[in-house]
Amino acid sequence: MLTNLARKILEKITPYTPGKPIEEVQRELGLSSAMKLASNENPLGPSPKALEAIRQALPNLHRYPDGSGYYLVAKLAKTLNASPEQLILGNGSDEVITFAARAFIEPGDEVIIADPTFLIYRIAAQLAQAEIRIVPMNGFRYDLAAMKKAVTPKTKLIFIANPDNPTGTYLTRAEVEAFMEGLPARVIVFFDEAYAELVDAPDYPDTRVYLEKHPVIIARTFSKAYGLAGLRIGYGLSSAPLIEAMHRVREPFNVNSLAQAAAIGALDDAAHLEATRLLLRDQKKYLMNALKEFGCEVVPSATNFILFKAGPNAGQTAEALLKRGIIVRHMKAWNLPEYIRVTIGLPHENQAFIESLKETGRNHS
Ligand SMILES: Cc1ncc(COP(=O)(O)O)c(C=O)c1O
Repeated sequence: MLTNLARKILEKITPYTPGKPIEEVQRELGLSSAMKLASNENPLGPSPKALEAIRQALPNLHRYPDGSGYYLVAKLAKTLNASPEQLILGNGSDEVITFAARAFIEPGDEVIIADPTFLIYRIAAQLAQAEIRIVPMNGFRYDLAAMKKAVTPKTKLIFIANPDNPTGTYLTRAEVEAFMEGLPARVIVFFDEAYAELVDAPDYPDTRVYLEKHPVIIARTFSKAYGLAGLRIGYGLSSAPLIEAMHRVREPFNVNSLAQAAAIGALDDAAHLEATRLLLRDQKKYLMNALKEFGCEVVPSATNFILFKAGPNAGQTAEALLKRGIIVRHMKAWNLPEYIRVTIGLPHENQAFIESLKETGRNHS
């Protein structure tokens, strides 16, 4: 029950429900081990270089972190061929989404969001008292033509996850180019590229090309390809004036010192990133084939997870997998009750998932 002291707008907000801690799932079900394939994390774990950077930063935990993220920002600027004024660090890229909503949305402004997509856009926009325009996807892909049509004189922000979560599909350079063409300059486009480093497709766009032409914000994260989800660190790349506006809504010490150190270490570990990409490429093939062989409809994925149709009993299937210690995401919260999203794990985890799926004998359509 929401207290009547809360802001009225909170009544409309469906809270994000995270999964239970893996240890709790194990305890409740009396399992000796469990496999978490539910939150699109890196199955290889963090880079050893990130761990070493954390160890070195530990003795200084009594100090506040560097509120400007000086060294990490400088490193990112170099890596991305941008200037430090074009960057902002966030406590996860989630926070960059909230920066954009807080910095740019006036009550009543319109925000365009696809469906199904990452749920945080809607929450952030609702809190900013935006009018939300939902544009359904087409075959689990962003319908950019429809999103462009939804633009009105009141549109302020458009969220585009590329690739998308939970579908895993991506938009091509040509599609994004056509979308950006002629878009009014008062509309900010937010490209959420949480999975960018994992995309293999040669026609995946480099949205930095728009930085000088249009107000765009590109958000990236260390939670996925870099295996640092637990530390909460991501960043936004934009034009200096937009970044300046976002700094005004940022808490002064929003990114902790271990996260900053680890991110620098992770950026130095090209081998870990490559190993992650190779594992994904290989295991995605395995999982896709196994799911198809089993008769499931699968959505093509440019990411480290797969959305598949498990049928009318998808909820029970997810429960049955859970009882066997395999945690996947039933897609009910996205209004896809017949679907399950599974994160690509280590080879033995993926095999265990497929075997358990077969054994649960789920009743797909
Ligand atoms: C599309 C998308 N954007 C952003 C995020 C947030 O990532 P983080 O806040 O960990 O950087 C996620 C996490 O699942 C995601 O899937």
